[in-house]
Amino acid sequence: FTPKSLAGKRVLITAGPTFEPIDPVRGITNLSSGKMGYAIAQAAFEAGATVSLISGPTALEMPYGCTRTSIQTAQQMRDAVFAQIEQQDIFISVAAVADWRVSNASDQKLKKNHAGDLPQLSFVQNPDILAEVAALAKPPYCVGFAAESENLIEYGTIKRLKKNVPLLVGNIAQNTFGQDQNELVLFDVNGHKSLPLADKTSLARQLITAIAARI
Ligand code: C5P
Repeated sequence: FTPKSLAGKRVLITAGPTFEPIDPVRGITNLSSGKMGYAIAQAAFEAGATVSLISGPTALEMPYGCTRTSIQTAQQMRDAVFAQIEQQDIFISVAAVADWRVSNASDQKLKKNHAGDLPQLSFVQNPDILAEVAALAKPPYCVGFAAESENLIEYGTIKRLKKNVPLLVGNIAQNTFGQDQNELVLFDVNGHKSLPLADKTSLARQLITAIAARI
């Protein structure tokens, strides 16, 4: 880890889950503690970058030296990303963005009734923030994440091409949620490389080193 490998660079990072309301007291979300994204933000700051973090709901302390914008929904995350994207050199999309939101969310709390009628929820697809950023005419250097439950090498290779990003970071979903340690696989144009089981702090520094070597 070279401490100043990102000196003078501006880095935007999304982290944590998004939360999509059903009504004022309920919603759907993804499993994500935010630990990996926050560790990457801290490592980018240590490497000399100016770091802006856009975070869904988490219980984590703000990483030292970083700016944080807190959001709840995928649409709010998208708006916060696009408010800053033009100034960025690097975009690291770590957030577990909900793929769908409830299109008929209620302004008032849904009430149970005696007949046992069930709420009828409808969904619409959320914007794919990473794919939108990667499709910009002059995108920042884009790094995506993929949490897969199986076939990581195959799915990671395909997902990097589908999202059209130069670097994609894969991990096995069941191994990472809420944990302090993880194993990562980095996919780029040359193939893939494993970063063996380590603390998220250590993996974040290794990832920042890998990014700095590529820009
Ligand atoms: O397609 P999948 O959700 O597995 O892609 C994961 C990658 O795409 C992550 O980097 C995630 O942050 C990003 N993503 C996004 N917006 C979405 C869904 C995923 O930016 N709506």
